[in-house]
Amino acid sequence: MLTRIDHVGIAVHDLDAAVEHYTGTFGLRLVATESNTEQGVREAMLALSDARLDGLVGSDDALRGPLPASYVQLLEPMDDDTPVGRFLARRGEGLHHVGYAVDDIESALESLAAQGISLIDSRARHGSLGASIAFAHPRDLFGVLTELVQAARS
Ligand code: CO
Repeated sequence: MLTRIDHVGIAVHDLDAAVEHYTGTFGLRLVATESNTEQGVREAMLALSDARLDGLVGSDDALRGPLPASYVQLLEPMDDDTPVGRFLARRGEGLHHVGYAVDDIESALESLAAQGISLIDSRARHGSLGASIAFAHPRDLFGVLTELVQAARS
């Protein structure tokens, strides 16, 4: 069901300062900054270096070529009374969620629901970079807020 880690979401107090810190420290590339008013969050997607499997051990030609990017997603709340604002107040800055890529988000949601995993979103909604996303509740996933990401078709 999960094909790779698409991104890790990190809650921060100051998005611009965090973007500068991550790009400067790790050489990540800022791909997009978006405001999601529905979630009350400003966010930035920072791409890791373009990864390639060329030259790695393995003989499956289907696996060669550029991999889809993976990202660090930095999240700054627009307000204290938002999901990320409440997270920051309770836990401070740090890892907020893990986003896993899936090929078919609707069937992944159906599968999780059928297994009794608590879902925050029972249907997919709009996420960063045009993706369809949905969150599963941390309570059934060892305390980790878990996001399913079906990338926009290119
Ligand atoms: Co995310």
